[in-house]
Amino acid sequence: MSYKQASYDEPFIGELRSGTTYKIPGKVDPGVLEDLPEGTRREYLPLPEVAEYDVVRHFTRLSQMNYSVDLGMYPLGSCTMKFNPKFADRISTFEGFSEIHPLQPEKSVQGSLRIMYELQEYLKDLSDMDAITLQPLAGAHGEYTGILIIRKYHEDRGELDSRTEIIIPDSAHGTNPASAAMGGFDVVEIPSNEKGTVDLEALKAALSEKTAAFMITNPNTLGIFEDQITEIAKLVHEAGALLYYDGANFNAIMGVTSPGLMGFDIVHFNLHKTFATPHGGGGPGSGPVAVKAHLKDFLPVPTVAKDGGRYFLDFSHPKSIGRISSYYGSFNMMLRAWSYITYHGADGLKENTVNAVLNANYLAKKLEGKFKIPYKPLKKHELVLSTENTGKRALDLAKYLIDNGIHAPTVYFPLIVHEAMMIEPTETVSKADLDQYAEVLLKGLEAGDGELKGMPKNLAVGRIDEVRAARELKVRWNLE
Ligand SMILES: Cc1ncc(COP(=O)(O)O)c(C=O)c1O
Repeated sequence: MSYKQASYDEPFIGELRSGTTYKIPGKVDPGVLEDLPEGTRREYLPLPEVAEYDVVRHFTRLSQMNYSVDLGMYPLGSCTMKFNPKFADRISTFEGFSEIHPLQPEKSVQGSLRIMYELQEYLKDLSDMDAITLQPLAGAHGEYTGILIIRKYHEDRGELDSRTEIIIPDSAHGTNPASAAMGGFDVVEIPSNEKGTVDLEALKAALSEKTAAFMITNPNTLGIFEDQITEIAKLVHEAGALLYYDGANFNAIMGVTSPGLMGFDIVHFNLHKTFATPHGGGGPGSGPVAVKAHLKDFLPVPTVAKDGGRYFLDFSHPKSIGRISSYYGSFNMMLRAWSYITYHGADGLKENTVNAVLNANYLAKKLEGKFKIPYKPLKKHELVLSTENTGKRALDLAKYLIDNGIHAPTVYFPLIVHEAMMIEPTETVSKADLDQYAEVLLKGLEAGDGELKGMPKNLAVGRIDEVRAARELKVRWNLE
């Protein structure tokens, strides 16, 4: 299938305005403006006055110059972009849900509280954990919540002053060290072994009375299952530290094993990865955090509880870290996740896991021999290739894929693989999709360097100078 993206010479919406600029006056406390850096201050909010049809056409044109999971394959390793079923979208827009307010009396929103309660129970069951909060608004926000719980736990035991370190493997996602550092901990990185998994000797050497926690995802970002996980849990707990599960890759194990069984104390879920909700991307995502019983008291408040047939907001966690989002989290995402779970049931969820793993392994088989696959054991839900042996750059091949109507994989991550391409097909692709993916990627290997460097050519925007774009960011709201 050949691909050609729509292309418009689309102006900024401010340049589209048909009439004047509408100015919404701001109410700013005296003194506040002076505290803001120059260039970020304004006394009113200017909005373009544009007719409804101009707005609709403007955004429709922009959306056509974009790529989305509803348009084609999106096998973005680690980020997990899979098709979001439309029935779940539809349920989330039912008036009974969309027209309520978080400050309504509990007795008038029993149905919504029930959905939240049931989602809590489902996630606890699936992960074999004991208590949960639905409040965090993304995976990274879940991590940060987990880190605050770790802080509070050690503080409660009078050990926070001495437990200042969080250990993280070098294959970890960048949000892990960032969350640990934001929570006030020093990050200690340990190397992976030749199999791409945790080096037990390095872990033993790093663990001490200074360790607050070990943060890890399983399977890890190389798509490899950490088969020494129970030994790891034992070592971490013997050192008096907690074991944190970055549940971003839970879609590779759900229904087969669980973080609770592996010995984890805290886990965050990325609802968009495992339960097919839209990725936050700066918008409303969801990253619930579940804990074992000994950490229940530290969870954010409120959680949703049940007393007989009545659902209520429970503020009773005595040592809570407090609120970490306004109201109760992204209710809209919870509705989608609840719908996805109830639709599939336990067997369906497990089947999705098995298919996600099968699809990654099928693709690995089709590509091996042509690309270097640096870590050999059986892949789980995603595979990491290196283009080093092909003489081509991962970036160029990624652009080639986009030009052929397939979203690029994650490139240059994990950092421990040179010229990395990290591909996660997910369960929502067919065999025909996977065959097409392999065919396009292998064809890219035959393309000449000149052709590859000229990619993409069928998109609204050609190749940009990424370094310059990052350094000279020019976002303007050109209204004045
Ligand atoms: C392994 C891993 N951990 C954490 C995150 C952070 O999740 P989020 O993007 O929802 O903040 C991601 C995101 O893709 C991830 O792949």
